[in-house]
Amino acid sequence: MSAPPQRARYATITDRGLDWDSVPMRLFQKAKRLGTWDPQAIDFSREVSDWAGFDTTEKDFLLRTVALFQAGEEGVTSDLLPLIMAVAEEGRIEEEIFLTSFLWEEAKHVEFFRRWLDVIGIHEDLEKFMTPSYRRLFLVELPAALDALKTDRSTEAQIRASVTYNMIIEGVLAETGYHGFRESLEANGKMPGLLEGIRLVSRDESRHIRYGVFLLDRLINESPVGWDVMNMHMNELLPPTMGVISEFWEGYDEENAPFGQRMETYLDFASTQFDKRMKVLERDRGKSQAEIERAAIADLVADDAMVGAAVFEPLR
Ligand SMILES: [Fe+2]
Ligand SMILES: [Fe+2]
Repeated sequence: MSAPPQRARYATITDRGLDWDSVPMRLFQKAKRLGTWDPQAIDFSREVSDWAGFDTTEKDFLLRTVALFQAGEEGVTSDLLPLIMAVAEEGRIEEEIFLTSFLWEEAKHVEFFRRWLDVIGIHEDLEKFMTPSYRRLFLVELPAALDALKTDRSTEAQIRASVTYNMIIEGVLAETGYHGFRESLEANGKMPGLLEGIRLVSRDESRHIRYGVFLLDRLINESPVGWDVMNMHMNELLPPTMGVISEFWEGYDEENAPFGQRMETYLDFASTQFDKRMKVLERDRGKSQAEIERAAIADLVADDAMVGAAVFEPLR
């Protein structure tokens, strides 16, 4: 049996202290200001009567979207720990500190969607909404990529985990889902509680994606094959990602589309999100760690300038 691990030192009592200006510490300050909203405090008093006024297709669309979010939020909550352990083991205390808020926020997102379902009175099994591509991403790819970190903490394994979690699931699919809620509910003023929660969830997610870009930039910078591993995994996951959207729409026809929407706009939105993620990584390719930090801080400052100017904080 190997000896129990010992610690050589505690970083924050040395002259190193904490790196307050680092990207993860800046994100942690934001998380304490913006991520402390309470799902129990959201006013759902209009939800039941608004729900009763929707037609069958509209109800199906909303329930399908919420079901996929509910399962997805549970997935990202359950699967994040191995990444936190990998980061902690490398002594990245600032990143670990930020990741405590990250996991806490994912847990609140699980709470938020489940509370909405309970308020509406949905107690049936919603697994029927999980299509083959969704099942592949959320039952296979996500748990496999994160679980791998329990035994393989290599830079390349961390890249695959972050691509799956931060770029594809948070950066493409969740963003497309918020778009769906906004498109269906904002114009008609329905479901104000659901929309308010989505606004807060998506604001939390913007920090998660910012961290994901910072993490991936750093990992790509650390490995000579980092860029290729990222690029290959992004492209491997693109077909099931688009599959989630096309399979979502299989149940609807053009004549009777929910809220008058079309599948093509969602496919376009998702592929634009995918391209945006790639462009940011491309922008930072080959930069030094100091340049990566500077670019990430500039992004954060730009985000702050937008707070209050927009209901949702769009990501570049
Ligand atoms: Fe989330
Ligand atoms: Fe997230």
